Amino acid sequence: MTLQELATQHAASLAEAAAAADLAALEKIRVHWLGRNGVIIEAVRQMKNLPPEERPEFGKRMGAWRAEFEAALETQREKLSAAQGVSSAPAFDQTLPGQWRALGSIHPISSVIAEIVRIFHKLGFSVADGPDIETRFNNFTALNTAPHHPSMDEADTFWLDPVKNKLPDDNDRLLRTQTSPIQIRAMLAAGKPPLRIVTPGRCYRRDTTDATHSANFHQVEGLYVDTAPVSLADLKSTLAHFAREMMGPSVAVRFRPHFFPFTEPSVEVDFTCHVCNGAGCRVCKQSGWIEIMGAGMVDPRVYKHVGWPEDTYGYAFGMGVERIAMIKHGITDIRDLYANDLRFLGQFA
Ligand code: DAH
Repeated sequence: MTLQELATQHAASLAEAAAAADLAALEKIRVHWLGRNGVIIEAVRQMKNLPPEERPEFGKRMGAWRAEFEAALETQREKLSAAQGVSSAPAFDQTLPGQWRALGSIHPISSVIAEIVRIFHKLGFSVADGPDIETRFNNFTALNTAPHHPSMDEADTFWLDPVKNKLPDDNDRLLRTQTSPIQIRAMLAAGKPPLRIVTPGRCYRRDTTDATHSANFHQVEGLYVDTAPVSLADLKSTLAHFAREMMGPSVAVRFRPHFFPFTEPSVEVDFTCHVCNGAGCRVCKQSGWIEIMGAGMVDPRVYKHVGWPEDTYGYAFGMGVERIAMIKHGITDIRDLYANDLRFLGQFA
C-alpha cells in the first residue's frame, strides 16, 4: 500500500463506519477493516516489505488511522445502541432463554402445622414452644406417668444420659417423646390460669421406620385451662369445630374412651374416613373412622406437679401432624415426607 492509497482507504473506512445502518452492519465493517485478515491489519503486516526509509512515516499514519477508525466505530456503536434502546455495555440479549431458578414450596408438614395453628388462633389460642431435649420431669413425671411405665423404657425413649442400673432421676435428659411436656413448661412459666396454647413440635421415639412409623415425627399439643369450670363438652365442641375447619364440613367426629396418664377422663378422637366418608374401605380398615388424636380433661395431679390451684379446670389434646398431612394429601408412605425428593415436594408448590 502506498501512502496515497493509505489516505484513500483511511477516509473510506471512516465514512463506512459512520454510515453503518445497524449494529450487525457495523460489526461486519469492523471485521472487514480490523478483523484477523482485515485491511488495516494486513497493511501493518505488509510494512516489512516497504523500503526502510518509508517505514516510520507509514507506521505513524497507520497508527493514526487505526485510532481514528476505532473511535469512529465506537461513536457509531453508541449512536445505534441508543437508537435501538440497547445499552452499549454490558450487552443484554433479550432473545436468550431466561435463567431458570427453582422456586421452593412449603413442605406439607409445615403447611399442616400452619393450618392447625391458624384454626386454633381464631379460637383464642396462642403458640407456645419448648426444646427437643427435655427432662424426665417435664416429659414423664409431671405428666403423671408412673415411674415404671413402659413408655420410659430404653426400647421406646432416646435417653441422653445413662439410665441403666440407676434410680430414675427427674433431671435425666431425653429427646421428648411427645409435645405434652410443653404443657408443663407453659404452666410453670405462666404461674396461674388461664392458659390457652397450641404447641407444634418435633418428637422422637425408638420406632423402626416403615410406611407409617418414623423415629421422629411432629405433634401439635393443645392446652386450655381456666379457673371457671371447663368441661368435656367444651373439648368436644372445640375439636368438632377443628375437624370441620381442617377436613371440610361433612366430616364427623367420634370420641372413644381411652387412657392417658395426664388426662382423666381420656378419649381418643376419630374423624370419619376421608376416602370412603365413613362407609368403610381399605384405608380405614373397613371401620369408617381414622384415629386422629388423644385428648382429655387435665388430671388434677398434673396441676399439683406445677403448683397450680386445685380448682383449675381444663382440657388437653395432642395430634400427629404426619398423620393429618398423609390423610389430607393421600400420602401412603410417611417416608416420602422426609426423603426430600423434589418430584414429591414439587406437588405441593
Ligand atoms: N401425648 C399423647 C401421645 O403422644 C397425645 C395426647 C393425648 C396429648 C392426650 C394430650 C392428651 O394432651 O390430652 O400419644
